[in-house]
Amino acid sequence: MNGVTVAANSDASLEEGDTEHHLSPLPVGIEPLPNQVAGHFYTKSEKSHCKNYLLKENNTGYVLKAIGDKRGWRELHLYEDIWSPQCAQTHLLQLRSFVPVFRGLVELDDTKFLAMDDLCAGYQKPSVMDIKVGAITYDPEADKDKIEKEISKYPWAKTLGFRILGIRLYKKATDEYIVKDSYFGKTLTPETVTDGLLFYLNFDEKDCEQRSQLLKQLIARLHSIEEWFLRSNVGHLKFISSSLLFVYSLHDNHVKSDVKMIDFAHVFPNHCEPKSNTGDYLSQKSEASEAKAMDTNYLFGLQKIIEYLLKISEKAI
Ligand SMILES: Nc1ncnc2c1ncn2[C@@H]1O[C@H](COP(=O)(O)OP(=O)(O)OP(=O)(O)O)[C@@H](O)[C@H]1O
Ligand SMILES: [Mg+2]
Repeated sequence: MNGVTVAANSDASLEEGDTEHHLSPLPVGIEPLPNQVAGHFYTKSEKSHCKNYLLKENNTGYVLKAIGDKRGWRELHLYEDIWSPQCAQTHLLQLRSFVPVFRGLVELDDTKFLAMDDLCAGYQKPSVMDIKVGAITYDPEADKDKIEKEISKYPWAKTLGFRILGIRLYKKATDEYIVKDSYFGKTLTPETVTDGLLFYLNFDEKDCEQRSQLLKQLIARLHSIEEWFLRSNVGHLKFISSSLLFVYSLHDNHVKSDVKMIDFAHVFPNHCEPKSNTGDYLSQKSEASEAKAMDTNYLFGLQKIIEYLLKISEKAI
């Protein structure tokens, strides 16, 4: 595979660590990731911020995520640990069912990509939603400016514990997709975020019975992830700025859905503390107790999502 060239440039408006890229046309068999709802999009635009952009390799069906910088390598190393044939750590072995299958390191010209299974594979006209989980979205390496910047991105995160980053909804009635980008999620507050979730669940369409079933499936899936955090991940990993990717399709009385964890660019060992004293990690305690700590920041957000979905479910049934 060849044909992707990435040339770095500088631009003061870019995010920390981001670089401007100029991309030549993609090689045959490689396309921008269809159904992508958030994150860094592949674009030929000269002003693109794409460092960790995503592609799809058609013959394998794999999703390719460019490893732009150390965040990308951090994510790759976690995938390698989880999927290593030698892996003997129970928490990582159990984590396999909640993350995409890792397919190795792929190189297109000079650019390296993390290859993984496409979570939308096997779905006809999938509806997709990306939710960033956690009240705190800055990692232990963040300096004061980065912390302030992260907090200002979505101040509601502190009380809400999550943010909708993007939605791609398939409307059967009109056979079209409706897309909501990150600006939509930023406008939602703890009072109105239910509207955002309802938009994704699309109870407006006639098949309400199926949608109630869908809701049950999604909640059950979130409960299994919660169980992993409560029982298996104690003292292991801290997932910062990580997402839950929701996928579903409803066809011929059949409800197919899944929720998986993605985006591990900011996953750290659970004993890490923020550099600056301004950080108020929910689990920040003595070193000894923190070593056994749960990822309370992630759990807080995850349980909030479950809480909102349960409320919707009570009304819908
Ligand atoms: N395995 C996958 N299958 C299907 N879609 C995926 C998969 N991984 C990512 N995506 C899509 O790509 C989007 C962005 O992915 P991701 O969050 O990993 O990248 P990012 O936010 O750009 O990266 P980073 O936070 O590392 O800069 C997701 O919202 C989702 O729509
Ligand atoms: Mg992301």
